Amino acid sequence: MKKNTKTIGMMDSGIGGLTVLKAAVHSLPAEAIAYVGDTARMPYGPRKPEEVADFTRQIADYLIESHDIKALVIACNTATACALPGLQEDLAIPVIGVIDSGVQSAVLASKTKKIGVIATEGTVDSGQYQAEIQAAAPGSQIFAQAEPDFVQFVEQNRYQDAEVAEIVKDHLQPLKEAGIDTLVLGCTHFPLLADVIQQALPEVTLVDPGVATAQKLATILKEQDLLADSDMEVHPENKQYQLYTTGPVSTFSTIAEQWLGSKHDWHFTHLNLPATD
Ligand code: DGL
Ligand code: CA
Repeated sequence: MKKNTKTIGMMDSGIGGLTVLKAAVHSLPAEAIAYVGDTARMPYGPRKPEEVADFTRQIADYLIESHDIKALVIACNTATACALPGLQEDLAIPVIGVIDSGVQSAVLASKTKKIGVIATEGTVDSGQYQAEIQAAAPGSQIFAQAEPDFVQFVEQNRYQDAEVAEIVKDHLQPLKEAGIDTLVLGCTHFPLLADVIQQALPEVTLVDPGVATAQKLATILKEQDLLADSDMEVHPENKQYQLYTTGPVSTFSTIAEQWLGSKHDWHFTHLNLPATD
């Protein structure tokens, strides 16, 4: 099998997608990853779908032109909902989103078919989780709830504050009353709140689409003979993990290092993307 040392591209509106990156680093340790967090234009959730699609396409083009990526992961549920089909159509490389992984995992996990989904307004309004879960498990009762505040808790590095735990508990009360047995963390920011969410819903199975997405990425790379070998030479200037933010590097790197740990060298760089309008 030939060795493919090209880089995998990943993107999100900010910190969130690093939950997918973390899963990919674990399941594909030989692969190089270039990640763009579009913090300057976050949140994507309240934006018009065509605007999210424009931003996502711009980031995809940057990763292709500047990093010659061999595959792209849209590590953002909102961008997946708004842009995935178009990107899969137009790009020559494999493009993977996070929603169908979340759907498969939720349907596998749920016994009662009472499934909750928390996500951004954009993802909830797209109706994609609701439709795809219903298609995969007819008769499911789906309780979808937009939680934009949870995105800000993560981006402002407040996700470990005691008062946030209280707010999360209050917000999730309706889902507790609905009697769900499974909850999809349908925004890539939310796994950083997983402990607090689990405290609020102790009996509920939490689904992180990022984990199944990393597995799907590994399968696709293998199927298309795009995998790097395990004994791969060190990446150019040892930059296996290049993490870009369109916002301030300081805040981004602080939260990223908390979440990703210090086992690897994370290279943080500010990225300027010209306005798309
Ligand atoms: N992390 C993104 C998601 O998975 C969106 C957060 C936002 O920018 O609103 O939907
Ligand atoms: Ca800038």
